[in-house]
Amino acid sequence: MTITKATNVHWHDGEIGRVHRARMLGQVGATLWFTGLSGSGKSTIAVALENRLMSKGYLCYRLDGDNIRMGINRNLGFSAEDRTENIRRVGEVSKLFVDAGFIVLSSFISPYAVDRNLARKLHEENDMAFIEIHVDCPLEEAESRDPKGLYKKARAGEIKNFTGIDDPYEAPDNPDLLLNTQTMSLEQEVDCIIQYLEDKHLIDKREVRRVYA
Ligand code: ADX
Repeated sequence: MTITKATNVHWHDGEIGRVHRARMLGQVGATLWFTGLSGSGKSTIAVALENRLMSKGYLCYRLDGDNIRMGINRNLGFSAEDRTENIRRVGEVSKLFVDAGFIVLSSFISPYAVDRNLARKLHEENDMAFIEIHVDCPLEEAESRDPKGLYKKARAGEIKNFTGIDDPYEAPDNPDLLLNTQTMSLEQEVDCIIQYLEDKHLIDKREVRRVYA
């Protein structure tokens, strides 16, 4: 539970709201939350999806665990408490970007269901779409990929509290989308998300809506 230290603060509304920005951009913001083991494919899918959505004319922004931990969250490690704070902050940042009108692609291991649920709640109580995508991949597969060599280090005891090795990962019980990256191709995964966004009327079915380049 995060302690609220700031007291005597008051929300200050502007005259321009989310609706005005959505009208200007011609799109409604939403958060697509990718959760899964390190090496499961979260960032790879987010990058491919960003390319696809941008080429269709939708403004996106990616928030990625490693990148965010090099900046705003550089003071956080990998204890349960720090991971909770990592996800709390990213949930808030995602919400701000949705308020700004972006389709946000947030890729974080986010191993604890309770933390992901808080990020969802933060969105839903503000009438914002939050789509949880479980990037599912067996540990053995993620470990065999080991793109950053971190599983090897964790097995050697050089990294402690590594998710899947000596730290837990709580898979979502009921994700909005489940992508098995061991059996699906990257293209199929992106197609599946695009289809979902079309079905939810978050994007329209036109191939290209606006050319940005
Ligand atoms: S989370 O658990 O708090 O959601 P986050 O997605 O931000 O994690 O960061 C995970 C990334 O940090 C991994 O992809 C990996 O590159 C790196 N990392 C370094 N140490 C660890 C660790 N102990 N457990 C998991 N990932 C780690």
